[in-house]
Amino acid sequence: AAIGKGNYRHFMEKELHEHPAVIGDTLRQYVDPASRAVARPALPFDPATLPRLWLSGCGSAFLVGQTARYWFESLARLPTDCDVASELRYRNPPLTEGGAAMFVSQSGETADNLAAMKLLRAGGQSLVSIVNVPESSMARESDATLMTVAGPEISVASTKAFTAQLSVMACLAINFARARGAIDAAEEARLTAALLEVPEHAARILDVTDEIEAVAADILDARDVLYLARGSLFPIAMEGALKLKEISYIHAEGYAAGEMKHGPIALIDSKVPVIALCPSGPLFEKTASNLQEAAARGGRIIAFTDEDGAVALRRFASRVVVLPKVDPFVAPILHTIPVQMLAYYVAVLKGTDVDQPRNLAKAVTVE
Ligand code: AGP
Repeated sequence: AAIGKGNYRHFMEKELHEHPAVIGDTLRQYVDPASRAVARPALPFDPATLPRLWLSGCGSAFLVGQTARYWFESLARLPTDCDVASELRYRNPPLTEGGAAMFVSQSGETADNLAAMKLLRAGGQSLVSIVNVPESSMARESDATLMTVAGPEISVASTKAFTAQLSVMACLAINFARARGAIDAAEEARLTAALLEVPEHAARILDVTDEIEAVAADILDARDVLYLARGSLFPIAMEGALKLKEISYIHAEGYAAGEMKHGPIALIDSKVPVIALCPSGPLFEKTASNLQEAAARGGRIIAFTDEDGAVALRRFASRVVVLPKVDPFVAPILHTIPVQMLAYYVAVLKGTDVDQPRNLAKAVTVE
C-alpha cells in the first residue's frame, strides 16, 4: 500500500516523529532487555580478535560511521578507520590481514559503497552491511547484513534511518567492548540501560517544538551557520550542517570545536550563528571555552545542552536549549534529533520543497 503522510505536513516531519519507535524497534533486535546484554550479532569475524575495522558510507551514513569510530575505539579499543566510500574506492589503502569492513546505507543501493565493497573484498576483508532494505544490492554483496528497523524512509533528507543506524552501531560497540574484555558485565548493563532509555527521551524532545522553532526563526536569514562539537558529537554537528544545507540551502559547516581557532573563527561575526552541541560530560569545559571565544568575537551562540551544562552556557549564549541529561555514550543519538528538527523548521519557514530538495536523489545509484 502507498505510504501516506498522515496528519503531517511532510514525510520528513512524519519520519522525525518516528525516531522513538524506530530506535526502540532497532534496539529490540540487538538487546535483551531482561539481561541488559547485547545479543551476539551474526558476523563473519570474531570481534575479540579482529585486528582492524573499516567503516564507510556516503553522506549521513558516513557520519554514522564517524560516530561509531569514536565508540569502537574508545569503548571497545578496536583500531577503526572511517572514510567516505567515494574516496575509499580509489585510495588503495593498505589492508590488514583478517580485517573487516562495515558499510552503512539506508537504501543499500549506493554506487560508491558497492564499488568500495568490491575493493575491500578483493583485499581479503570480510564485509558487513548495515542497511534498511533487506534485499538490497549491498546486502547481497556482504558476508553478513545487520538490519536497521526504520521502515521506509521517503524524505530525501535522512532522519530516522540515521538514528536507527547509530542504534545498531551503539549495540555493536557494547558487544565488541565486552568481547574484547574492555568492559565488564556491569558496565555493559549500564550502557545498555542508557540506550534503552533513548526512545523515551527522544519522544520528549519531539514533544516540545516551540524552542527549536524559535531557533529556526533566529537563523532563517543567515548566509552561513557553523555547527560545533567535540568527540562523538562532532559527527552530529556535521549531520546538523549537512541537513541544513540539504533542505534549507543555507551554507553550513560542522567543525570540531577545538579547530575553531585554526581557521573558522575568522568567519565569526553577529551574522554567523554558531550552533553548539555541548552536553555536560568530560569535554564540556573544553567546548564551552571554544564557544566563549566565539561569543567574545560577537558570535551568536545557540547551545544544545542539558540541565547541568545550561548554567555555564547561559552566561554568554544567546539561546540555550535544554535536552534531557543522558550518559555521554548515547548523547550523539539524542542530539541528532534537535539538529534534524532545526533543519526541518528552517526549511518550512523558507518554504522549500522539504521532501524533495533540489538536485538531490534519495538513492545515489550512479557514481
Ligand atoms: C542524507 O540526508 C542524504 N540525503 C544523503 O547524504 C544520504 O545519507 C546518502 O546519499 C547515503 O544514502 P544511503 O544511506 O542510501 O546509502
